[in-house]
Amino acid sequence: MEEREISQAVIRRLPRYYRYLGELLENGVERISSNDLSKKMNVTASQIRQDLNNFGGFGQQGYGYNVKFLYTEIGKILGLDETHNIVIIGAGNLGQALANYAAFEKRGFMLKGIFDVNPRLEGMTIRGVPVQMMDELKRFLEKNNIEIAVLTIPKTKAVEVANFLVENGVKAIWNFAHTDLNLPEEIIVENVHLSESLMRLSYNISSYNREHTK
Ligand code: NAI
Repeated sequence: MEEREISQAVIRRLPRYYRYLGELLENGVERISSNDLSKKMNVTASQIRQDLNNFGGFGQQGYGYNVKFLYTEIGKILGLDETHNIVIIGAGNLGQALANYAAFEKRGFMLKGIFDVNPRLEGMTIRGVPVQMMDELKRFLEKNNIEIAVLTIPKTKAVEVANFLVENGVKAIWNFAHTDLNLPEEIIVENVHLSESLMRLSYNISSYNREHTK
């Protein structure tokens, strides 16, 4: 399949398509029209057609979309047909919560190691993965083809640790620490800010209330 440059806006929407199509598949639905998908997802049918046309358009006039095919193709575009080895750096509240999230493996993200500096956490295991100390990280990275590191440490330590990870072969960082990492261009960084999502929620509550108290 020929792939054109895809806008970040479309890429941000793809996981949602993937999730809905996965649910349809689980419910035995084989094909769906853009209109039906649009009703389910609460996006316009033309948006769906436009988005999916980016990948050569998997739909057929009068037939709609083949759910399994579309699900598989979007999975490939998202790189979910490959496995990615990950480590979590920082085994505190958030690191432990993420490590406990079993669905990662379902999507091909294999949790290989968890690291921290707190000796009290040493030896604790989360879903079978032991927490190791940071001084073991370098050797671990040399041996285990780790592609992604999840950063769940205090922001004051994030830049230093991120640089160390990159120097030791990590290619991508899922950064939860509230700070910019400024890494080399070839390193993929995805910053996550739950509080921004909460602010969007807050905005939507306020605007709903404004609308309904007019
Ligand atoms: P926490 O204090 O429970 O855990 C932090 C862990 O990092 C501790 O176990 C600590 O020993 C470890 N640590 C400290 N320095 C380290 C280093 N140099 N190397 C390895 N491990 C180190 O904190 P929590 O609540 O888990 O939050 C972790 C980070 O995630 C914080 O930066 C927090 O601000 C951020 N956070 C971000 C959210 C987001 O939406 N982006 C949501 C919640 C927290």
